[in-house]
Amino acid sequence: MGFVGLVARAAEEADAAASGRPEIQVFKTPTCGCCNKWIEHLQKAGFDVQATDLPDLTALKRANGVPPRISSCHTAIVEGYVIEGHVPADDIERLLAERPKVAGLAVPGMPIGSPGMESLDTSQHETYEVVAFGTEDPPGGWVFATHEP
Ligand code: CU
Ligand code: CU
Repeated sequence: MGFVGLVARAAEEADAAASGRPEIQVFKTPTCGCCNKWIEHLQKAGFDVQATDLPDLTALKRANGVPPRISSCHTAIVEGYVIEGHVPADDIERLLAERPKVAGLAVPGMPIGSPGMESLDTSQHETYEVVAFGTEDPPGGWVFATHEP
């Protein structure tokens, strides 16, 4: 690569860094409405979302080491981390900043009040945990964040 090529690449990298838009790949089933709402939440937070519909996510979850007990409606990949379920964008940003040795973050199930799962009746919103999984120590993972209504 000549000097011009180097300059062009440096400019590209500076652009990507300045735009602050990490790319996140989201895998979901075509009929799931709450997945789309979570995608909107990510987009509002500045993520560059690439969404893919699959008829079944079981194999994808297994291949990415998502334990069935913490699984949810969609699975995403961002900078090598796995994001399972309705994880808030703030927590993903913290994950990318801190880079702990985990496979990823999960919000097991679909708690009411998590991003994309908001109810018009906010009294229905529940406290939920974001779990860091795929850790060696402790093997069951740990609580990354707790969100109260
Ligand atoms: Cu959902
Ligand atoms: Cu979903």
